[in-house]
Amino acid sequence: MHQNPRSTHNIEENKKSKELNKLRDKSKHGGGKKRIQQQHEKGKLTARERIELLVDEGTFVEIDEFVTHQNSKFNMAENKPLGDGVITGYASISGRTTFLYSQDFTVFGGSLGKAQADKICKVLDLAVKTGSPVIGLLDSGGARIQEGVDSLAGYGNIFYRNTQSSGVIPQISIILGPCAGGAVYSPALTDFILMSRSNAFMFVTGPEVVKAVTGEDVSFYELGGSEVHGSLTGISHLVGDTEEETIDLAKKLLSYLPQNNLDEPPIRFDDVIEIDQSDLVAIIPPAENEPYDMKRIIEILTDAESFFELQEEWAKNIVIGFARVGGSTVGIIANQPLYLGGAIDYHASDKASRLIRFCDSFNIPILTLVDVPGFMPGIKQEHEGIIRHGAKLLFAYSEASVPKISLIVRKAYGGAYIVMSSKHLGTDINLAWPSAEIAVMGSEGAVKILHRKKLKEEKEPEKVLADFAQKFKDEFANPYQAAERGYIDKVIHPEETRREIVFALHLLQNKREQTPRRKHGISPV
Ligand code: HXC
Repeated sequence: MHQNPRSTHNIEENKKSKELNKLRDKSKHGGGKKRIQQQHEKGKLTARERIELLVDEGTFVEIDEFVTHQNSKFNMAENKPLGDGVITGYASISGRTTFLYSQDFTVFGGSLGKAQADKICKVLDLAVKTGSPVIGLLDSGGARIQEGVDSLAGYGNIFYRNTQSSGVIPQISIILGPCAGGAVYSPALTDFILMSRSNAFMFVTGPEVVKAVTGEDVSFYELGGSEVHGSLTGISHLVGDTEEETIDLAKKLLSYLPQNNLDEPPIRFDDVIEIDQSDLVAIIPPAENEPYDMKRIIEILTDAESFFELQEEWAKNIVIGFARVGGSTVGIIANQPLYLGGAIDYHASDKASRLIRFCDSFNIPILTLVDVPGFMPGIKQEHEGIIRHGAKLLFAYSEASVPKISLIVRKAYGGAYIVMSSKHLGTDINLAWPSAEIAVMGSEGAVKILHRKKLKEEKEPEKVLADFAQKFKDEFANPYQAAERGYIDKVIHPEETRREIVFALHLLQNKREQTPRRKHGISPV
């Protein structure tokens, strides 16, 4: 019997198509059902489930799903899972193209060998070529032990790309499991680190090595859990209670950011809802040292519910984050009188400088709210290098060429006045409320230094002290000396502030600033 060539062709096509579907199906199951079940039993989602939560439905395009490792040592040739423990590709997140990779703990504990590293490098390269953000979902035992130096080379290739793309595309790392050894340095080189509260941990050397070297007993969580990195080291910018919440935080973060350094941040007119500005006056207490919550001021000045705080539990004496004003993204840096009186210490300096540098790279205007008594005094501060850390903040503000707007709310004393986006560091619009006090230091401190000898000789030093302090206050406890010299552009009523900020942002949207040609400055890191 004669066989129809067309039907032979169809049978062949069908076979090939089936083979592809089979391979796809195999790739989708990572380390197999048992390991997926174990992952769920640990209260963790799989790499694919995480991607589903992150991206707009049906938009994920996977690449390199059939990549396998090429290692034959340690019987590895018999075990070549498709995809090699990481899922890579691109998708739309709230309508915006984003590249991503998601490590699959069910395959060799998500450990990274050459093939996995090459897959990650490919998406990092594509992200730069297309000017798109990149998000990594990390859950891995680190360098794949069986692959030796190839694993280390893989990490090196990733670190190199993280660094080369820094300031070109936003890079976000979401830690949802272990991130151990040198592996921590890829997230550390990215712009933002998010951790899930109970399953994520990051450390360079784990509890066993710590025990062997220092004799200290410590658990994974105590050594590098979300609480440690959220409040003690500041390495984590955001902590979510669950994996779902952590992924949601990443989506929200992305909504403030441009696609790349040549793009502008998205404008969101839908949340341009103003809050009653008259409430501002009542927030500032009459006494200069009385605390109040700076976040209340931020929330009133910015579009309703748009303030998105970063590193909330670390260096609480300075508040940083993104917000929108009139629909446009701004970076917020604000002293927080509720903690350490709002004084600047070495952690606060690092925290603020980093966000300033991020904003400067990605065309995000910086809004600074000032109420600062000075740099934090103390032996620990001096010995931990407040000189170097404080200099980072000066450097970051001076270097930033994006629109810079500042508002002095109450105190602005000494070096801290200069560092907090003063006119002298190239700030474009400097505003102050009538409650602003700009001086070299607080009144009592100043009088004690200026009249030390006289006070010793006085019979009633307290009275003399109070008289001098009052005179000093009358002279300096206002914004007008600075306004007379043009260091403050405008003294405004609190309820006029939002309007002034909206105008200033509009005015500065085409700002251009030329700096001398150089390779790069040397920030005091
Ligand atoms: C190869 C690994 C692995 C690794 C885990 N696995 N880590 N395989 N290389 N680095 C494998 C395990 O053998 C196991 O396989 C499976 O993954 C699951 O691991 P478990 O230990 O059963 O899981 P769990 O109890 O949840 O513990 C997870 C863990 C632990 C805490 C991550 O596996 C661990 O401590 N791993 C090593 C972490 C580490 O020290 N990494 C640093 C490597 S050095 P089976 O088949 O038995 O189920 C490094 C340097 C990089 O990263 C340098 C760059 C500059």
